[in-house]
Amino acid sequence: MSTTRPVIQFEGVSKRYWPGPVEAVRDVSLGVNEGEIVTLLGPSGCGKTTTLRLMAGFEIPDGGSIHIGGREAAGPSAWIPPERRGVGMVFQDYALFPHLKVGENVMFGLDAIPRSQRRDRAKEVLRVLDLGPHFDRYPHELSGGQQQRVALARAIAPRPVMVLMDEPFSNLDAHLRDQVRDEVVGILRNAGMTSIFVSHDQRDALAISDRVIVMNRGKVEQVGSPREIYRHPESVFVATFVGRTNLLAGVVQNRDGCVLTDFGSFCRVDRLGMPDGSQVMVAVRPDGFVPSENGQLRGRVLATTFTGAQIEAEVAIPSALGGDRRLVVHLPPSAGLVPGDQVAFRLDPDYASVVRNSCQVMDRGAGASGMTSPVAEALASS
Ligand SMILES: Nc1ncnc2c1ncn2[C@@H]1O[C@H](COP(=O)(O)OP(=O)(O)O)[C@@H](O)[C@H]1O
Ligand SMILES: [Mg+2]
Repeated sequence: MSTTRPVIQFEGVSKRYWPGPVEAVRDVSLGVNEGEIVTLLGPSGCGKTTTLRLMAGFEIPDGGSIHIGGREAAGPSAWIPPERRGVGMVFQDYALFPHLKVGENVMFGLDAIPRSQRRDRAKEVLRVLDLGPHFDRYPHELSGGQQQRVALARAIAPRPVMVLMDEPFSNLDAHLRDQVRDEVVGILRNAGMTSIFVSHDQRDALAISDRVIVMNRGKVEQVGSPREIYRHPESVFVATFVGRTNLLAGVVQNRDGCVLTDFGSFCRVDRLGMPDGSQVMVAVRPDGFVPSENGQLRGRVLATTFTGAQIEAEVAIPSALGGDRRLVVHLPPSAGLVPGDQVAFRLDPDYASVVRNSCQVMDRGAGASGMTSPVAEALASS
C-alpha cells in the first residue's frame, strides 16, 4: 500500500429515494486504499448499487460526505460531477454502444486526450485485455466474457483513479464464470488498479477481495478480510449470509472464559468481551467440527454429500435439552463415514465466533441460501 490516505472515503453517507422514502443507504462510512480490491457484498436491495452510484457521482447524497483522493467530491461544501471524478464504471449489463465497434466503444471515453492519441490508447488497452484482434468488430459478435472485457477496457482506458464494477460476473455462464472472474481480477491486480466490486455472491467476494464490506438494509454490517468475515462473523446476519453456518444458542461465562451451550461449554471462542450472562449465538462453520476420538460432541451421521474437496455431512447430536439437533459439518473424504456411523468431534475455535444475538435470525426472503435452517429454526423457537 503506497499511501495511507484512502482513494475514496465515505463519512456518514445517506441516500433516500422518493416517494417513500426508501432509505437505500444509511449512515455509511468506509474507505478504500490505493491498489485495494474491495467487494460490497449483500443481498438484493441492500444498497450496493446505490453506494457505487454515489461513488461515481450518479447520485447525490442526502447526508454525509465523500472524498476522492483527499478532495471533497460530495458533501456540504462541494460537488464534483461524474466526468471529473476520474472514476471508471462497468455497469451490470455492460452498457456497450451496440452500433459502435469495439475500438469506438473504448475511444468513446477518451475525449479528454487528443484525438490523434485516442486510437493508440484504445489499441493498447484492448491488447492488455486480450481483445486486440477485435478492434473492428461489433459487440454482438463477441461472447459475454469478451463484451465484459470491452466494458472494462472502456472504463480503464482514461486511466481512472479507481474502477467500479457492478455485479460483473452475474450474467456469465456458470462454466465460464470463475475463469473470467480470475482473468479480470488478475488484470486489475497487475495494473495496481484500485477496484470496487459489487456482488451478492459470497463465493466471488471471498475469492477476489482484499477486504469485504458486508451490507444489510442500507448499512455496513461488517468490514474485514475474507478470512475474518468467514471465520469471525460479528452478527447472525453475516454468519448466515456468508457461507453455511451452525448457530448454537449460548450464555457467556466470563469466569472460565467459555460459552455454555446445550452441547456443552465452548472455550477459547473469539470475542468474549461481552458481560457475564450475555445471551449469545455461537456461529460455527462446518469446517469447525474436527473428527476426534475424544471430542466433546458425539453424534450420528444422517446424510453425506460429496462436494469434491470434502464431504458435507448432516450429523444429529443429542442436546442437553433433549432431542437431537442437526449440524452441518465438513469431513475429510478419508474419514470414510457413511450414514448411521457414530462420530465424535472437537471444536476448532478458529472457525467459531460469538455473534450478537440482538437481531432476529434472518428471514428467508433476504437470500438465506447458506443457512442451516433446521438448526436455526430449532434455535429460534427454543
Ligand atoms: N431509482 C430508484 N428509485 C427508488 N428506489 C430505488 C431506486 N434505486 C434503488 N431503489 C431502492 O433502494 C434500495 C437499494 O437499492 P440498490 O442500491 O439497487 O440495492 P442493491 O444493488 O444492493 O440490490 C432498494 O430498496 C431499491 O428498491
Ligand atoms: Mg444492484
